[in-house]
Amino acid sequence: MNALAWADRSQAHLWRHFAPVAGPAPQIFVRGEGSYLFDANGDRYLDALSDLYCVNLGHSYGEELGQAALAQYRELGFLSTWGNAHPATIELAERLAEMTPAGLNRVFFTPSGGESVEAAWKIARQYFLLRGENRYKGISRKTAYHGTTLGALGLNGIDHLREPFEPLLRGGVQVSNTREVALADSAAEKAAAVQRILAEVEATIQREGPETIAMLIIEPVQNHGGMLHAPESYARGLRALCDRYGILLVADETITAFGRVGEWFASESFGFDPDIIVTAKGLSSAHAVIGAVIVHDRVLEPYREPGALLQHGNTFGGHPVMAAVALKNLEIMTRIGLPAQVRARTPALEGWMRSLASHPLVAQVRGAGFLWAIELRSPEHLRRDATRSVYEDADITGRLRERRVLTRIAFDDDIPIINVAPPLVAEDVEFETITHAIREVLDEVRDQIEGGFALLSERQHQLQHQHQERMVT
Ligand SMILES: Cc1ncc(COP(=O)(O)O)c(C=O)c1O
Repeated sequence: MNALAWADRSQAHLWRHFAPVAGPAPQIFVRGEGSYLFDANGDRYLDALSDLYCVNLGHSYGEELGQAALAQYRELGFLSTWGNAHPATIELAERLAEMTPAGLNRVFFTPSGGESVEAAWKIARQYFLLRGENRYKGISRKTAYHGTTLGALGLNGIDHLREPFEPLLRGGVQVSNTREVALADSAAEKAAAVQRILAEVEATIQREGPETIAMLIIEPVQNHGGMLHAPESYARGLRALCDRYGILLVADETITAFGRVGEWFASESFGFDPDIIVTAKGLSSAHAVIGAVIVHDRVLEPYREPGALLQHGNTFGGHPVMAAVALKNLEIMTRIGLPAQVRARTPALEGWMRSLASHPLVAQVRGAGFLWAIELRSPEHLRRDATRSVYEDADITGRLRERRVLTRIAFDDDIPIINVAPPLVAEDVEFETITHAIREVLDEVRDQIEGGFALLSERQHQLQHQHQERMVT
């Protein structure tokens, strides 16, 4: 069956995520290899976003991962993690306790990142209940993405994701992210920005009442908002505030763990000392449906009391086949030395990314490891609030796809940001391809803006032309 037939069929019954039902048919991908995906026509595309920041190991290793799954299926295809346990799940918990920073030793498995966030919130809330305190609130940061289930959405800092579903779970409180730090020019200005943000966090804690706050959740590198991270003084400051007010510090490492920034966990790279780490995606390089909440001994303490019981669970958390695949993923990552490879290749990727900084449409390039953001500026003669529509009409994602590079432009707070996060096996040739494609697309968009074309109609005309050509061939 050819690509067009699959595209047609996809429109009948499949409900894609964050995709309009009435929108165009999707491109159909059928095969992967390393950093590349192949569509149903056999054309090769560079996956510059690790799909959803998750295919850390890339699109290969199917044979090994599949054999691990098969071996587990042959033994036992399923066992819940309620009353019983299974060797693969036990081994994975042991492995994670080994890999995480000291003290993070207890692992609760989930089926996803969002459910890991929710589980962490419940673990934190019940931790306080067991100690005789009713702390239920969670502080998170503006524009942060923590998942889309209704509980996790209460912590999500992205307004357009929250608003249709309000009222949400009570207790989500937002503070500033570290964008101000990212935009500061000098080290001294960054340090001052960190102090201002920490003061705001403290004022929020005091305003809300520390006795009501269970946790503060942060990503060591905040993806939404454009790969925001801050000097270690920020991490130390948050830890000190959490200690002062007895709040649990939760690191949402759903995308930053498992080598993405050159260590197994980004908390290590950025100086966070969390009480709980939340993770998912890279744990199996997305080849299995599995997430984990990794809890510090000090949080487990009240749960050790006789009669104490975490009132939480689900059917699939700790699924033996998913655990076996995750174990194999970690084994391969360790064998090929993935975090060290990322550290070794980061300067090259950074160099390519920073080479875009001088482009007239680029406001700032920032990132860490294999997580980069290219923030675009308002074209000179356009009003600031017109930036979003101009870049939306310019269809940068579509233009990059035409150049066989898959990535996304995000519009957090209406700021246009191109994201780059290739699989951790990507090398210089991939960095170069991504950079050239982005530069070409930005040149094209700049020419059109300067030429005064109405970007939307111009782009629509181009797409219509391509569609007609495709129908003819
Ligand atoms: C930081 C963070 N937390 C949570 C999630 C939600 O993960 P999932 O889509 O597996 O529920 C994501 C997804 O991108 C994420 O980036």
